[in-house]
Amino acid sequence: MAYRYYEDVSPGSPTRRAPRAFFRSDSAAVDLAGDWRFRLSDRAEGTGPEFWKPDADDAGWDLLPVPSHWVMHGHGHPIYTNVRYPFPVDPPHVPTENPTGDYRHVFDLPDSWTDGAAVLRFEGVESCFKAWLNGEELGWSTGSRLPTEFDVGPILRPAGNVLAVRVHQWSAGSYVEDQDMWWLPGIFRSVTLVARPEGSLDDLFVQADYDAATGAGRLLVATDRPARVSIPELGLDGHPSGTEIAFPDIEPWSAERPRLYDGVVATDTERVPIRVGFRRVEIVDGEFRVNGVRIVFRGVNRHEFHPDTGRVLTREDARADVELMKRHNFNAVRTSHYPPHPDFLDLCDELGLWVIDECDIETHGFGKAHGVDNAWVGNPSDDPAWEPAYLDRMQRMVERDKNHPSIVMWSLGNEANTGQNFERMAQWTRRRDPSRPIHYEGDRAGRYVDVYSLMYTSHDALAAIGRREEPAHPDAEDDPVLDARRRAMPFILCEYGHAMGNGPGGLSDYDALFDAHPRCHGGFIWEWIDHGIRARPQTGDEYFAYGGDFGEEIHDGNFVIDGLVFPDRTPSPGLIEFAKVSEPVRITAGSTPGTIGIRNRYHHVDTAHLAFTWRLEDEGIEVASGSLPVPPIPAGRSIEVRRPELPAVDGDAWLTVEAALASDHDYAPSGHRVAWGQVQVRSAPARVGGAPVPVTPTTSGYRVGAAEFDADGLMTSIHGYDVTGPRLDVWRAPTDNDRASRRAPQRVEDDWRRFGLDRMRHRIVSVAPADDSLLVRTKVGASATRFGFDVAYRWTGADDTVAVEVSVRPDGEWPVPIPRIGLLLALPETLDQVEWYGAGPGEAYRDSRAAAGIGRYRADVDAMQTPYVFPQENGNRTDTRWLRLTDDSGHGLRIDGDPVFDFTVRRWTSGDLDQATHAHELKPRDQIFVNLDHAHHGLGSASCGPIPLPQHQLQAGDVTFQLRFMAAATS
Ligand code: GAL
Repeated sequence: MAYRYYEDVSPGSPTRRAPRAFFRSDSAAVDLAGDWRFRLSDRAEGTGPEFWKPDADDAGWDLLPVPSHWVMHGHGHPIYTNVRYPFPVDPPHVPTENPTGDYRHVFDLPDSWTDGAAVLRFEGVESCFKAWLNGEELGWSTGSRLPTEFDVGPILRPAGNVLAVRVHQWSAGSYVEDQDMWWLPGIFRSVTLVARPEGSLDDLFVQADYDAATGAGRLLVATDRPARVSIPELGLDGHPSGTEIAFPDIEPWSAERPRLYDGVVATDTERVPIRVGFRRVEIVDGEFRVNGVRIVFRGVNRHEFHPDTGRVLTREDARADVELMKRHNFNAVRTSHYPPHPDFLDLCDELGLWVIDECDIETHGFGKAHGVDNAWVGNPSDDPAWEPAYLDRMQRMVERDKNHPSIVMWSLGNEANTGQNFERMAQWTRRRDPSRPIHYEGDRAGRYVDVYSLMYTSHDALAAIGRREEPAHPDAEDDPVLDARRRAMPFILCEYGHAMGNGPGGLSDYDALFDAHPRCHGGFIWEWIDHGIRARPQTGDEYFAYGGDFGEEIHDGNFVIDGLVFPDRTPSPGLIEFAKVSEPVRITAGSTPGTIGIRNRYHHVDTAHLAFTWRLEDEGIEVASGSLPVPPIPAGRSIEVRRPELPAVDGDAWLTVEAALASDHDYAPSGHRVAWGQVQVRSAPARVGGAPVPVTPTTSGYRVGAAEFDADGLMTSIHGYDVTGPRLDVWRAPTDNDRASRRAPQRVEDDWRRFGLDRMRHRIVSVAPADDSLLVRTKVGASATRFGFDVAYRWTGADDTVAVEVSVRPDGEWPVPIPRIGLLLALPETLDQVEWYGAGPGEAYRDSRAAAGIGRYRADVDAMQTPYVFPQENGNRTDTRWLRLTDDSGHGLRIDGDPVFDFTVRRWTSGDLDQATHAHELKPRDQIFVNLDHAHHGLGSASCGPIPLPQHQLQAGDVTFQLRFMAAATS
């Protein structure tokens, strides 16, 4: 058999081996992006042995854009698996059926091009490729999200250069690229030809340190040949490279104030622009500090994803991500689980985010490939044969990215267990760049990393870590030195708050622990974006596809839809919640009456860039507003300011204080709200109904005030509107967190269905009209189970209202929490205009309600749905004082709480939501379904993490709640 390079565990054989920094210079460069000739074959032999020959005939081939993934352009299809390899685990071999794309591209050199050395650079090709130029083989390479370079100078011709590239979907490299994402083959990052004129720079390493104690900076620009460093702002003009320069007084770089000094490193033949950020990262006394200050990562894990192009992102896409992150109070990003396109790191430098740059290594599928959980048999991480590949990947990342001030840690990879190859990577990295700590969650014993890191840790376990009282790692039980090493480390949650579907819940509780324990340095939400691929069927509605939608043989369904933004980057409620929980300024009631407390939670900047304003609302209507003078508060400090003078109000009144950007910033315009707080200044008693009216019998049942009931005590109309219900509802369409993952301690959905919460039936026990009320008793229970609820509805009427007091008593000791407790009713579809006074504007649940402020909000029913890619419970509004549902002319119903309730309004039922598997499958019925809830079970993040905290669970117990219905016009 011929040598199969794509089954070789070595990293490849490109003609130019030494990795180096990514930079753009004034040397000539040709971007080879465009439509290339392309043909897909189903085996590694591709289109045959001679496709690379310059005169090979490619006339009948397709055209495919470069960069792109061929599966996003109708050639084959994407595959989604989380942990499992979609091929037999038989390393380093790959299936004979190995989709292979042959590419051919003909290009000319620009007239200005001069002969000499030149490099052909591929920024990313998944997963293995070989290249030929003008009939000469250049070599092959692996490392999908890493650059590969070939020396091509002598082979180039002025015109008619023929570049041929053969890309294999599967290679030995695939075994170390088992990240939880779509498998997307192709030349997916740019390909450039860069002239390297005699005397040009090969590499440069910009090392810029900042001493917070003195304010001094030190700069060393190391180059592979003598060069001159100029930074006009610092008075540097042609300073020799390789010699350190001290600055007595420098402005440091931080994520909060990303100060960059523009400069140039020049040789006689080339000028390379640099952007220098001075900062120092260090671990002192078990704390992770930047520029002398302990920092808390308010971070997110970012995969590169676009619903139409996969992992092909434009600079604008990358910028949209950074801007959105900054606008939602993120200060950090982990580049899960591979080095991103260099543009993204430039933007992090420029706009300010702390970055953990992660190497392109994951071998998760070895965890259970032998049928036993966590067996890791044959894991490459501990196999010396793979050491060159591991080291090579780390070197290519560190060398490429070393000049970014935003990068504060190197991460060795993800979910590849531990092993000697990781130790080698850490050793090499420490020598090459001692300025940045090393992260790898897989080194849980803490042998070779600098920070202790876990994922999806529960709140309790996090608190124990904060106290440095966590259990010893099994490897360290008899090794006090190892145990002490890890226990002395700062801690981060490299992943937490699994943002799959509706959630995550519990973010405020995590934030409180980051505040309480200096060892806990925050974390990184899993994850930034839903990886839904936009599907445009020939007939029917567009939708976002996930695992299984392409007929994959094995797949992990919608586990790839777990981001804070929807696939099209629309913010989800989870993002809005994060922004509130993580706001860098906390505004609360002050400790003494009449004051407002303001705490600056920034690490490095004062609040001078913020403008504070206030407004007073009476039942949600603004009655006064103004600006609030707040002196600049230094980083980490709190003050109390006097409340503004407020006019007298009669109703329920809230004072809202907001902090917004006082001027334009790179990531958001002036006026962008950064933080807010609310204080109730007056509470108004609930409205009382009019004079009581007696219950009257009718031919078909009863009348109670403006409501008609049938003989079974079921309401049939209210204020002239046909009604179905209201009656007890305890079901919700399970969220991804209710459905949970195998990791979760409790799959609450299974319990809910086992105990029949999805199929409750209502038996009328008695209907007892009395003078002043109609008392209806029911027994609610489900097939096959003896658990249920006894429910009593006491209806009373007044001139203008119909009120109900609902008493619910569980029958039997319910062994599981219940989804919700409240009433469900259905109203005519015309009542689709919603106005409410309560928490809003967005959806909120008991453990995800920080972002909802008390106010008066309006929306139509359609706008109140959150279009989760995988349909599930959504759209709940909480702390509602009153709700109006009206038609276009303003007529309809008003519902008052006593004091408050939760509600959802939708054109479909919870059952419809439960059945649908994609958002476009939900079809409006001809009614509006209204849930009026006394309480809800929390969200938690059990889709890959903890269930809701005990205080956020809804246990069945005796409850009584009241609601009042009236005509909307009476409001
Ligand atoms: C982690 C993993 C991520 C992702 C997440 C679940 O274990 O590192 O890549 O799979 O779980 O969505």
